[in-house]
This record gives sequence, structure tokens and C-alpha cells, in this order.
Amino acid sequence: MVVSDAAHPIGMFDSGVGGLTVARAVIDLLPHEDLIYFGDTARCPYGPRAADEVRKFALEIMDALVEEEVKLLVVACNSASSAALDEARARYAVPIVDVIAPGVKAAVAATRNRRVGLIGTHRTVESGAYEKAMATTRANVSIHARACPRFVEFVERGDTSSDELLDLAREYLQPLRESDIDTLILGCTHYPLLSGVIQYVMGSGVVLISSAEAIAAEIFAELKDRNLLSRNRAMGAHRFVSSSEQGITSELGNRFLGPEFKDIEHRPWDKR
Ligand code: DGL
Repeated sequence: MVVSDAAHPIGMFDSGVGGLTVARAVIDLLPHEDLIYFGDTARCPYGPRAADEVRKFALEIMDALVEEEVKLLVVACNSASSAALDEARARYAVPIVDVIAPGVKAAVAATRNRRVGLIGTHRTVESGAYEKAMATTRANVSIHARACPRFVEFVERGDTSSDELLDLAREYLQPLRESDIDTLILGCTHYPLLSGVIQYVMGSGVVLISSAEAIAAEIFAELKDRNLLSRNRAMGAHRFVSSSEQGITSELGNRFLGPEFKDIEHRPWDKR
């Protein structure tokens, strides 16, 4: 068993570029932390896959990150969180932060009429993970869920504002517009990049919940409570790894993460 050390990096993963929204928030809040980001671009999207397959991918990636001696794991993917979280918590000694609980907490704090919408991939919506997490809050808030499977492909190709996307958003979100929600959880880490179009379609009266900031705050608290915050005063080192050769283009990386996005390393899982 590897013992966590404050000098070790944070390990984070997603199926592709979506988790960069979480990485951005983490770098803003914890600039001195080293970070390894893994995007499983060769096997993206996770959303349409069976739970067992997503669980297998997620555990494979977390095994590799634990081998790199990360001090904390961040499952920056709702689909992977909903499929693999329980098993991961039993399997690893390092603390694990997921995306679902922080999003639910933020939605409970934001809603006034106790009617919260949830959009995510098929995997996440079908899993019922948000409803389960909401039940544990005892806040008496109802969740109105809708899968928006094609949003991910738009984000992965860098399209966050086309007419085609707007038409699709109108189609996906219409049932939620009719359901009197006042808060909408972006239950996929790709979706914050579509906040403009989603807010436009839902109207300004609906509060959008992107869990990235809430997750970063939770990571801060976990590290602080375990005395694992980096003691380094220089800017942390950030590594970006992907499973496909084309990886994450620097155009997308720079756009979605910012100037900290560096060269991407390629790590093919099938050739390990
Ligand atoms: N960004 C991911 C999520 O939060 C996965 C998207 C996908 O690969 O389908 O669910």
C-alpha cells in the first residue's frame, strides 16, 4: 500500500476533455498542487456504454494513477462516478473525490422550489446515482432527469455554439422547460462548456450548477483535513495524458483549460 504524501500529485480522469473543467477549478483553488490528468480519448464516450464496461475502464485508469503514487483521486466524470465509485472506495487507500455528491449539495443550496433538473449521459441518468445521492441529503428535493447523449460529441470537437447545437439543446431541454425546475445540474463534466447555449434555452430564471468549483472546494477540504496540502510555494507541475494518439489537441486544451495546458503524453491501454 502506498502511503499518501503531501508532495505527491493529485490524479484526475475523465473520458476526454470534459474533466478539464474540473482541472481548471482545481488549478485556480490549489495552484501549488501537482496534477496528473488522464483523458481516455480512445474510448470516449463512456455515456452510451454498459455500466460494467465503464467500471472496468475507470478501475484500470485509477490503478494506473495509484501506481503513479497520487495522493488523491478525482473521478472527474459522472458516468465513471456512477458506475465505479463504490468499488473504487473499497479498492484504494487514497481518498477519492467524485463529481456527484458536490453537485447535489450545490443544487440543494440553490433551489427555492425544490424542483431540480439533471442532464447527463445515458449511463449517468440510467444509474439513478443522483437520485440516490439526493435521498441521502433528506432535503425533500425532486430530480427531473434527462439524458443528452449527443452533447459530448459537440464538446469533443470544440463546437459550443453552432445552430445545430442550439437546435439539439432545444429538443433535449424542452421537457425540462415544461417541468418548472428552478435549478439544473450539469451532470456531465463536458456540459459546463455548453453553459452558454443551455442557459439561453432554459432562460435566466434557472440556476445552472456546474460541480467543478464545488469539487475543487471538496478536494481542498480533503487535503487540508488529512494534512496533505502541498508545501511547495511554486506553481505546481501539470501532466496531461491521453489514451489515443491524437489525444487532446492543444487548441481544445488551451481553450477548455487555459495556458497551463501542456504537451499531451500518449498512453495506449491496449499496449501496456
Ligand atoms: N464527461 C463525462 C461525464 O461526466 C463523460 C462523457 C462521456 O464520455 O460520455 O459523464
